[in-house]
This record gives sequence, structure tokens and C-alpha cells, in this order.
Amino acid sequence: MLNPRPVGAPSSDVTERIPVAWPALPRTDLLVPYLRQIDEARIYTNHGPLVDRFETRLAERLGFRKREVIACSTGTMALVGAIRAARNLSGHRGRLCLLPAYTFVATAGAALSCGYDCHLVDIDRRTWAIEPAALRQHPRLSEVGLVLPVAPYGRMIDLQGWQDFHDETGIPVVIDAAACLDRLMEPGISLPKTIPLAVSLHATKSFGCGEGGLVLSRDTTLLEETYKVFNNGFLGSRDAQTVGLNGKMSEYTAAVALAELDGFDEKSAQWSRVAAAYATAGNAIGARLWTAPETSGCYALIEASSPPQAAMIGARLITAGVDIRNWYGAGLSEHPAYAQLSRDPLSVCADVAGSVIGLPCFTDLTKADIGRIVAMLAV
Ligand SMILES: Cc1ncc(COP(=O)(O)O)c(C=O)c1O
Repeated sequence: MLNPRPVGAPSSDVTERIPVAWPALPRTDLLVPYLRQIDEARIYTNHGPLVDRFETRLAERLGFRKREVIACSTGTMALVGAIRAARNLSGHRGRLCLLPAYTFVATAGAALSCGYDCHLVDIDRRTWAIEPAALRQHPRLSEVGLVLPVAPYGRMIDLQGWQDFHDETGIPVVIDAAACLDRLMEPGISLPKTIPLAVSLHATKSFGCGEGGLVLSRDTTLLEETYKVFNNGFLGSRDAQTVGLNGKMSEYTAAVALAELDGFDEKSAQWSRVAAAYATAGNAIGARLWTAPETSGCYALIEASSPPQAAMIGARLITAGVDIRNWYGAGLSEHPAYAQLSRDPLSVCADVAGSVIGLPCFTDLTKADIGRIVAMLAV
């Protein structure tokens, strides 16, 4: 079995190189009380007491109702569950999925695995997302059975605009809000009326539990259908009521997620300190940096004025021992697995993907490290 270097693991000598991500999840001592509860209950999965408690406490933290949150095994599975549930309930027969070209590959993988044909749409220069007004005019709209808008890097998108699009067209919409959990914890953000959000709890996200995901929606019928999808189609009996999969979160993962929630105020403060240090250093040299609260806390991005300038900055950073990452690659159409997908002209995606570079971002990144990184960004 291949054993690639995990994301964020220092490539050679951590005292020399600054990794792009270096996740820190709750340490063993903080997990032990929860693990003992698993020992006592002898319930290891199938929506056990810890998953239930995690959903309840997270809903409280978000200001949502308990029934508006379902935990599952990964962010990709959250997409699959929400897509299948939305399709089942809408009865929409359209086989085409419109999605942005600028996203992580999992967005396309989820739609294709649900049987859709995917068509890549260009993003808006300002939001880096697809926009409902533009899609209303899309020439292939009559074939469309699913739209998958993405909130890139946790940048908030027009949730109400997508709800209106769904209400007017009847087309199922599922929001890929993979990196949005910390943004959703900010006061004043509410879920759309019916369309669901899929969230990732991957270790590299601001709030992580190793591997995990969430589906969030105010539509409790849709969430019940999603629950069935994650539970092999079962709900209250051994008769599968819908075609399902095993997308459940285990009790062990819920233990990590609960401990992460226990310490999240402190972690959130650490993300904010890193973002503020980047903003101060970036302002001093006039660099266009994207950090929290514009993005999720786990991202620090530099937007260069052009792809060639970004390539120059990227080369300089790597030479200076600073690891970088283009989190979405050069866009979906540039990945061999997705190169055959039909697409609109993707000039904005190419420009944004070429100009935006992911900089190191982790909770214990020091001001000195940030100073060293930002010093490399001046043109
Ligand atoms: C935009 C986007 N969608 C989906 C996913 C998939 O989430 P997961 O890795 O938890 O399956 C990610 C993960 O990084 C993502 O960034």
C-alpha cells in the first residue's frame, strides 16, 4: 500500500521548512473520557450516544435546532447523501449537474458517483463562485437536474440567491460548504429554507475530527432522507426504504469531534491570531491576502496580480523553504480524471487558479514564521 507523506507533514526538517498545513486535533488525554464512555456503552457506531451528543451540541453552538444537523463519515459523503436525498425528494429527472470548475476534486467525484453527467461552469471574478443569476441564463438549463455551488475556501456565497434559484426553477441545489463550519458559527448566519449544505470535518479544516462530515438543513424531511441514505436506506426497520450506503460517523470519530468542540473557542482564537498576523504583515507590503474572516481560518491565500507573477512568488517561497499549495489545482478541467467533462469557456477559473496560492496556515504558526513568509511576497 502506498504511504504518501500526509498533508502538512514537514517535508524534511521542520526547523528549516514551513509546512503548508500542520493540523492539531485534540490530544489523547482529552479523548480518554469519551473513549471510556464508549467502553461502558459498548456502542461503537449506528448513530450511537456520542454522535447524538455531538449533533446536539454542535446544533446549539450554531444556533440551529438539533434536527438540522446530521454527522457522517466524510465531507464527500455529506455531498453524496445530500445530493441523493435532494434528488429522491424532488423526483427531478434531469441528468446534468452544473458545478464550478474552481473547486476541490471531491465536488465532481460526488456528483459523478450519484450518476450525474457534469458540466463545468466558469466562476465569477469577484466571488470565485458560480452565481445564480448567471446560471438562470445557462444554455443547458433545461437538462439540469442538480446544481452544486461551492463556497471556495469557506468564502460565504449567496445562500438566499441559491434558495431563490431553487424555488423558481425546481432544480435541486446542494451547497458544497466543505470549509464553512467556522464561518457558520459567526453570529447572524442562518441556513437557507430548504437547500442543504455539505460540510467537511477533515483534519485540515478549521474544525476537524480526522475524517468526518455534516449535512445541515432546515428541511427536516430532507435530513431524514439523508439519514436513510447514510444508513443503507434503513429508518426504524430492517426494510431498506431508499437506495443507501454506509455513510455513518463512528463513535470513535464522534469522541474526537466532541473533544474538538470542547476546545474550539481556544482553537478559533488561535486561527484568528494567525489571520490577524498575516493581515498586518500583508498590509505593510500591500499584498492582497485572503484570510479569516473572509475565508475559513485554516486558509491564508495570496492573490497575485497575474498567473506569471504568482508563479514567480511561488518559486521564491519554495526556494526559501516555505511550502505552498494550490488547493484546487488548476481547476477541475486540468485534472486527468475530469478533463473529459463538458464545459463552458473557463478563462476566469484559469486566471484565479493561476493567481491564488495557498500559504502555510496552522494554529501554532508564529509571527516570526509569518514575517518570513510575507517577506517573500513583495514583488
Ligand atoms: C470544496 C471541497 N469539497 C469537498 C471536500 C471533501 O471533503 P472530505 O475531504 O471531508 O471528504 C473538500 C475537502 O477538502 C473540499 O475542499
